[in-house]
Amino acid sequence: MTVVMTNELPAFPFDWDGTRLPAEVEALRAEPVRRVRTIAGAEAWLVSSYELCREVLENPRFSLKDTSAPGAPRQYALTIPPHVVNNMGNITGAGLRKAVMKAINPKAPGLEEWLRARAGALVDALVAEGAPGELRGAYADPYSAGLHCRMLGIPEEDGPRLLRSLDVAFMNAPHEIEAAGLHWDRDIAYMTERLDDPATGGLMAELAALREDPDYAHLTDEMLATVGVTLFGAGVISTAGFLTMALVSVLTRPDVREALTTGAHGVAGAMDELLRVNLSIGDGLPRLATEDVRLGEVEVRAGELVLVLVEAANHDPERFPDPLVFRPDRENAAEHLSFGGGRHYCPATALGKRHAEIALETLLDRLPGLRLAVPVEQLVWRTNFMKRLPERLPVAW
Ligand code: HEM
Repeated sequence: MTVVMTNELPAFPFDWDGTRLPAEVEALRAEPVRRVRTIAGAEAWLVSSYELCREVLENPRFSLKDTSAPGAPRQYALTIPPHVVNNMGNITGAGLRKAVMKAINPKAPGLEEWLRARAGALVDALVAEGAPGELRGAYADPYSAGLHCRMLGIPEEDGPRLLRSLDVAFMNAPHEIEAAGLHWDRDIAYMTERLDDPATGGLMAELAALREDPDYAHLTDEMLATVGVTLFGAGVISTAGFLTMALVSVLTRPDVREALTTGAHGVAGAMDELLRVNLSIGDGLPRLATEDVRLGEVEVRAGELVLVLVEAANHDPERFPDPLVFRPDRENAAEHLSFGGGRHYCPATALGKRHAEIALETLLDRLPGLRLAVPVEQLVWRTNFMKRLPERLPVAW
């Protein structure tokens, strides 16, 4: 009997197409805490109203760290060692937060100039080759990877090999993936070598120097390499993913295009609204209840998995009236949950925004005739991945 009941649970995630809000989101309004079946086959509570999503993110009884506990119900199989799930907690615990926060500050000397120059050079390359071009592989990915190589102080030529790991590391699969472990070991070995490479600069050189400091005697090379590998991963997948999906909005929504190019706000003023409507997060932000907690009308039991559906919170009409309308002057646009909330709120929001602003400004300024060069139905959407992504984004200008 139980089997029949559980088989009837809706499967989550709902839809990988990033051009529209999944139809299920509307139906969830009547049931903002809903039982679903995850990719890993577990049961979870899917939370979809703005208020309750925020409550989960801000209540420490919903733990990110504990989602990797042995035997806990899973959204999908882990692709990284379990202790790395609490990445920023580990960074803080090791006394490395200050160094990391300094590295991800967009006001770092020369960084904005570098971003502009890099975006400009990528547009030059697209123009030199001639239309059509492909904006993910030839623009968003190399721009984001280049930024993170610069920040870590490693050679930009090594960006593509580190990027390839991310196609596997951020897969949402029911079972462990062999390639994920192989990529992880190879990337940790690569980053460990950088610690002793005299050509290394940036954050990795700063971390390497701490090994001489007796106050940091607890640090191992593996811990330091893990910081480099995880910041590259979390940073590139999120910045390239958001930028690619912002480009999808610009290319498929005349209202967004008009607001960015002719509106009084410009790209920078529209950034929070762009983040609000962005469908880049393909899964739910996972938390494990560490105690019984009442959530809306539901009693969540200790040990149960809770998934925060960011796109539903960002399109909750109670918080954002006419949620499908793109309104850069929306007073509370910045209340979106696209950077999460509570104790795991993204530490790199300023860098994430500045990165996308400069890329969009450069592209729209240099290529005013930019348009999708294939029918929108031909875009191929990646499946079973942490981010929604078109595999290719062919454009003309
Ligand atoms: C537009 C770009 C970005 C977006 C949309 C984004 C989004 C997010 C979200 C939604 C979370 C919360 C995850 C959760 O609660 O489970 C998060 C956390 C995090 N992000 Fe970002 N992020 C961006 C850029 C970056 C960059 C550039 C870096 C680093 C180079 C970064 C590093 C992190 C880290 C380390 C955490 C974990 C924080 C913690 O657990 O305390 N992010 N990000």
